[in-house]
Amino acid sequence: MPILTAANLTKIYGSKRGIHHEALHQFHLSVDKGEFLGIMGPSGSGKTTLLNLLSTIDTPTSGAVTINQTTVTNLTKNKLATFRRKETGFIFQDYNLLETLTVGENIMLPLTLNKWKVKEMTKRLKLVTEQLGIEDITEKRIFEVSGGQLQRAAIARAIIHDPTIIYADEPTGNLDSKASRQVMESLQFLNQEKKTTTIMVTHDPFAASFCGRVIFIKDGRMFNEIHKGDNRQRFFQDILNVQSLLGGNMDDFHSIRFK
Ligand SMILES: Nc1ncnc2c1ncn2[C@@H]1O[C@H](COP(=O)(O)OP(=O)(O)O)[C@@H](O)[C@H]1O
Ligand SMILES: [Mg+2]
Repeated sequence: MPILTAANLTKIYGSKRGIHHEALHQFHLSVDKGEFLGIMGPSGSGKTTLLNLLSTIDTPTSGAVTINQTTVTNLTKNKLATFRRKETGFIFQDYNLLETLTVGENIMLPLTLNKWKVKEMTKRLKLVTEQLGIEDITEKRIFEVSGGQLQRAAIARAIIHDPTIIYADEPTGNLDSKASRQVMESLQFLNQEKKTTTIMVTHDPFAASFCGRVIFIKDGRMFNEIHKGDNRQRFFQDILNVQSLLGGNMDDFHSIRFK
């Protein structure tokens, strides 16, 4: 039984001048519970568009997304907000942590929003920060810790309420190779130990090699899909091979700017 299905997803962006752009064309996807799925493709191919639709951040022009047997594309605004708060966790390239809060307060935010008791929140905070090796920085402010630590804090925030699915858009996009490895090992650990279903957009073949399956999109359509065997190095090579078949600019603007 898949945990997420997308059927016939089409996204057309309009503009004031009446120019329309079809970013995604009748896209089908099925994700099993516990999968670690990577989404790759050239810059502008529709990766972020797809992730935003799968994660309920955006709504499709046509088609449906079903998560855990709820067709989220049919939900009212209020029901969708509740659903998103309980069932989803997000990790972004630029962490999206609040600078006015400590690292710990940031991580507990989803629990605060879901009205948990303080004692329970503190317990959960301890658990997830220990899992991610950041228990020593919970009292610190955002500007006092490194990018790699911030991204692990963002992961802690994404998982603290035990969401059905974690969505990550370029989680290693701002990180050096050492911090990228730590972040990917954290995501892999959570996926393997806790069976957290994870869907990650990345242009980085190294990050993608931690996934169990990678789909490649081109011009808003499925181009190819490959599965990891028992060897990450081999999978890394397979990913590079599909990338060279795909062509196009695999580097997103942001990664060029910040790396
Ligand atoms: N809000 C928007 N309005 C208009 N066009 C958009 C918008 N967001 C994305 N696009 C266009 O849709 C296409 C896919 O974008 P995106 O999903 O961001 O690609 P990717 O994440 O693969 O780089 C691009 O051509 C982009 O310019
Ligand atoms: Mg993108």
